[in-house]
Amino acid sequence: MNAKTRRLTVEIFRFNPQDPDATPGTECYEIDESPYMTLYIVLTRIREEMDASLQFDFSCRSAICGSCGMLVNGRPMLACRTLTASLPQHIRLYPLPVFELVGDLSVDTGRWFRNMVQQVEGWIHERAPFDPDAQEERMSDDESLAIYESDRCIECGCCVASCGVANLKPGFAGPAGLNRMARFMMDPRDARDDEAWFDVVSNEDGVFGCIGMMACHDVCPKELPLLEVYAYLRRKTLAAGFR
Ligand code: FES
Repeated sequence: MNAKTRRLTVEIFRFNPQDPDATPGTECYEIDESPYMTLYIVLTRIREEMDASLQFDFSCRSAICGSCGMLVNGRPMLACRTLTASLPQHIRLYPLPVFELVGDLSVDTGRWFRNMVQQVEGWIHERAPFDPDAQEERMSDDESLAIYESDRCIECGCCVASCGVANLKPGFAGPAGLNRMARFMMDPRDARDDEAWFDVVSNEDGVFGCIGMMACHDVCPKELPLLEVYAYLRRKTLAAGFR
């Protein structure tokens, strides 16, 4: 073993909610660090070489699919792009809070995001029935860039897990939900005007539920401009309210 190679201690939350006899706890695994080692490599080696029952989620391994969000030493992060070199020798891994636990480090983000999308009706409300012969509608470069920025969300759930309000208040749209509202409010193809959005956005489950701790902004792995998103929503809804 290279003299500089660290021996990592990886402490992992273990619990199978399907097993009535199971109790939540942690297990520690020892593993030699290698160059450019990510937590994806760590967890895969643990599962292949030490404990085949370990549950965790990965798909793309390149920070695109959003499957691998977890608490790394207390902070929501994407495991596939987190290098062990950036972490201390003792690494603690827990599942993301807020979401339903599937087992160990695996959570069901899909159910939360599906409920949120239905709550905010996060899809284009067309102004006219689809006409296959109609010409494509145009939008400005600025509009398209703003929509693209919000659309970069990979729905990993890190922002939701970091949000104090989302942790305490079911029904709060959370950072990802507020971002989704803004994405469709900005879209000129969407039929909803500011007044129509007012009921969805301007309440305690919408932008006025946010108490401004901004952990979401700190942990978003895609560095979405969430502060600008909230400012945009507040300005739009206040203006609509005064009208
Ligand atoms: S595995 Fe897809 S984002 Fe990490």
